[in-house]
Amino acid sequence: MSTEVKHTEIQRAAALLAEGKLVAFPTETVYGLGADARQSSAVSRIYSAKGRPSNNPLIVHVATVEEFYRYANIESSWNPSIVKEWLHKLTPLWPGPLSVILPRGKEIAENVSAGGPSVALRVPRHPLALELLRAFKGPVAAPSANPSMYVSPTTAQHVRESLGDKVDFILDGGPCEVGLESTVLSLLTPTPRVLRPGAITLDTIRHTLGCPVEGPISSGEPQTGGLLSPGLLAKHYSPTTKVRLRTTIALGEKLPERTGALIFSDWKPDFSPVESRVLSKCGELEEIAARLFGALRELDQANLDLIVVDTCEPIGLGEAIMDRLVRASRQ
Ligand code: TXA
Ligand code: MG
Repeated sequence: MSTEVKHTEIQRAAALLAEGKLVAFPTETVYGLGADARQSSAVSRIYSAKGRPSNNPLIVHVATVEEFYRYANIESSWNPSIVKEWLHKLTPLWPGPLSVILPRGKEIAENVSAGGPSVALRVPRHPLALELLRAFKGPVAAPSANPSMYVSPTTAQHVRESLGDKVDFILDGGPCEVGLESTVLSLLTPTPRVLRPGAITLDTIRHTLGCPVEGPISSGEPQTGGLLSPGLLAKHYSPTTKVRLRTTIALGEKLPERTGALIFSDWKPDFSPVESRVLSKCGELEEIAARLFGALRELDQANLDLIVVDTCEPIGLGEAIMDRLVRASRQ
C-alpha cells in the first residue's frame, strides 16, 4: 500500500478516535482495540465489543515517554523521586513491549483503570501505531483486539474474523513482529513487580533498574486476596478447542482421533496428529513467539478435539511463551 494511502488511513483513524469510535491498530506485540482514553463512553465501548469483565483494566498507549508524566500522577507515587529514577532508567526500552503501572493521572477516564487508582502506560514500537498516536495527539486505551479470553490477534485478518463489525476501523500493518502481549511491570511498590511476562524479560528489567524485581505469579497459581492484575486470570488466551501441554500426555495414552500438534521445532509426537504446525526450523524463541497465536488460531479452526502443544524452558522469552500456553491449557 502506498504511503499516501496509509497517511489518509491514519488521518481517518485519528478522526474516528476523536469522535469516540473504536479503531483496531497494529503494535509490535499484538493488534490493539483502541479508543480515546479520556472519553469514558468510548472506553466502555471497548469493554462491550470484547465482552471484557469491567474489573479488568486497559493499557494506555502514548507516542512518547514524556507523556507518562502527564497521564500518570507520579507525584502521588509511593516515592516520586525513586519512581522517576526508575522511569529514567527504563526509557531506552521504549518504544517497546513494556507497560508500566503508575498512579492514574486525572485526564485518564476512570473506567480505563476499571475504577482503580492506577494506570498501565506504554509507547508501542510499530511505526503505524506511533503515527496514529502522533496524529491523534492523545492517549489511546487499547487491550488486545480479541473477544475476552480468546487468543490475541497478530494480523488484521484475525481482528476481522473475531471482532469484525464491532470495530469502526481496522488499520492493517501486517503481521506483528513480537507476537506476545507486552510485559506488564508494576512500579507501585518499593520492589517493582512483573505482573505479566513478555518479550522484555525479567532479567532485562532487573539489569536495567539495577534493583530487585519480583517475578510474575506463576501462571498455575490462581490469584487470591484481590487481583493484582485482573487480566491474569488462571485461564486465558485460549482457543475453543481443548489444549494440553505435551508434558502432561502419558506415553501411549489414548488421545482423541482428531488431535492436532503445535510443534516448536524438532519434537516428533508419538501419536499421529491429523493437523500440525511447526513454528521454527531452528527452534528460535523469537520466531516461535511471533507465530504462536496465528498457529493456535489455525489449529482451532481445523475442527479438532484436542491440540497438544510443545513446551520449552520457561527462561527468557520462553517464560512468556510458557505462561500463555499454560493458561491456554487450563480447564
Ligand atoms: O502488548 C500489549 O500489551 C497489548 C497491545 C495492544 O498493547 N495490549 C494488551 O492489553 O495485551 P490487554 O488488555 O489484553 O492486557 C492488559 C493487561 C491485563 O492483564 C490487565 O489486567 C493489565 O494489563 N493491566 C492493565 N492496567 C492495569 C493496572 N492498572 N493494574 C494492574 N494490571 C493492569
Ligand atoms: Mg488481552
